[in-house]
Amino acid sequence: MRLTIRMDSPRSTEHVPARYDVETVDLASVDGVLSTTRSVRLRLDLDRPVPNDVLLDCIDIAEQGPGGGNQSSRRWLIIRDKAQKEALSDLYWEGAGKWMVSARDKLAGTEHRNTRVMRSAAHLAEHLTEVPALVIPCIWGVHDDSKKPGLFDSVVQSAWSFCLAARARGLATAWTTAILNQDAEIREILEIPEGVTPIALLPVAYSTGGDFASVPRRSAEEVSYFDKWGRTYEDRDDQSPRSIAERPGATVEIDIDAPPDKVWSLISDISVSAQFSEEFQGAEWVEGHHGPAVGAQFVGTNRHPAIGEWQTTSTITAFVENEQFGWAVGDDEETAAARWRWEIDELHGHRCRLRHTVRLGPGPSGLTPAIEAMPDKEALIVDRRQQEHLANMRRCVEGVKALAETP
Ligand SMILES: Cc1cc2nc3c(=O)[nH]c(=O)nc-3n(C[C@H](O)[C@H](O)[C@H](O)COP(=O)(O)O)c2cc1C
Repeated sequence: MRLTIRMDSPRSTEHVPARYDVETVDLASVDGVLSTTRSVRLRLDLDRPVPNDVLLDCIDIAEQGPGGGNQSSRRWLIIRDKAQKEALSDLYWEGAGKWMVSARDKLAGTEHRNTRVMRSAAHLAEHLTEVPALVIPCIWGVHDDSKKPGLFDSVVQSAWSFCLAARARGLATAWTTAILNQDAEIREILEIPEGVTPIALLPVAYSTGGDFASVPRRSAEEVSYFDKWGRTYEDRDDQSPRSIAERPGATVEIDIDAPPDKVWSLISDISVSAQFSEEFQGAEWVEGHHGPAVGAQFVGTNRHPAIGEWQTTSTITAFVENEQFGWAVGDDEETAAARWRWEIDELHGHRCRLRHTVRLGPGPSGLTPAIEAMPDKEALIVDRRQQEHLANMRRCVEGVKALAETP
């Protein structure tokens, strides 16, 4: 294994720190770069040249990323030649650009959440030839569906390091893959041998300036599961066994071959889960309340073999058409016995991912007397309840999927 500190290179390698003391880390700068490296397509300076040395510096940094077997299997194609850029741009245009431009034109002036992305994506497609450098990270290896981590898994992390190193130097990049399905054509243009896989096309230019911001994403608590799939905690304490004070929860998700509005029409019905859940029996609006709308209340009936039948009054706390429907068991989320949510993420317009979540507490619930009676069994009680919820919630998302996908 040879380190990339090349004594024979005229280019300085001082940009790859030989040692770095983490005690002196400037966390704000590091996190700033990590959080604001955006897909830049509109603010690319197409007139300012990008020196090769800067690109190679970024690749040196990126090559510090981990690789399976500690082998040097990544290769980087830097496209500078105008004819080569034109050939790739034509491919990009045929494969995706045309579609992006028509999507941009269709969405222009609408409130659709993809309006901005499409404006930016279409702009890149129209100007790809003019971008100073196109960088294509490649890997010796192919997707072989073996499920084993292969060589392929040794390149994505480095390619992203390249984007970060570029951002730290005032350059802008965009992660694009739209061209990759034209595999034979790319290989022919770039003379990439069989056995090597290109994994992205990164347009690289200086940015025309201005700030780049972090963007809203789901919180770590929402997308992180502890110990087993689907188990969430809003406040997991790493020192103690599971407890209700940690606000444990459960999340199930399913991809549905139907558009968001069709799924919304099902999940915004407060009784939909009664068709599938073994516990939830149905719900009725509280007299004088006509939902669904934030603040509206309904009474739900539940049944459990160990508890019998009971009823709870819930208040709708989230209602965003085609996106989010949630309620608190009780009057509000701060004092709720539990908080339930349906969420719909649109996938490419005509499909969606349905997400169903529950958070237990912070208010008292049916679990409270059981935990008070058997405090030493709290972890077990919490675990069982998460399992029960997960099983019923899975039945519900599968049931909604079946209904939504029925023509
Ligand atoms: C796997 C992958 C493929 C992508 N392919 C393209 C593409 O072909 N063209 C494009 O303009 N953007 C592409 N993007 C960029 C996304 O559209 C972009 O990440 C999204 O708009 C969010 O913007 P952000 O990266 O600034 O957060 C891709 C991103 C990823 C992760």
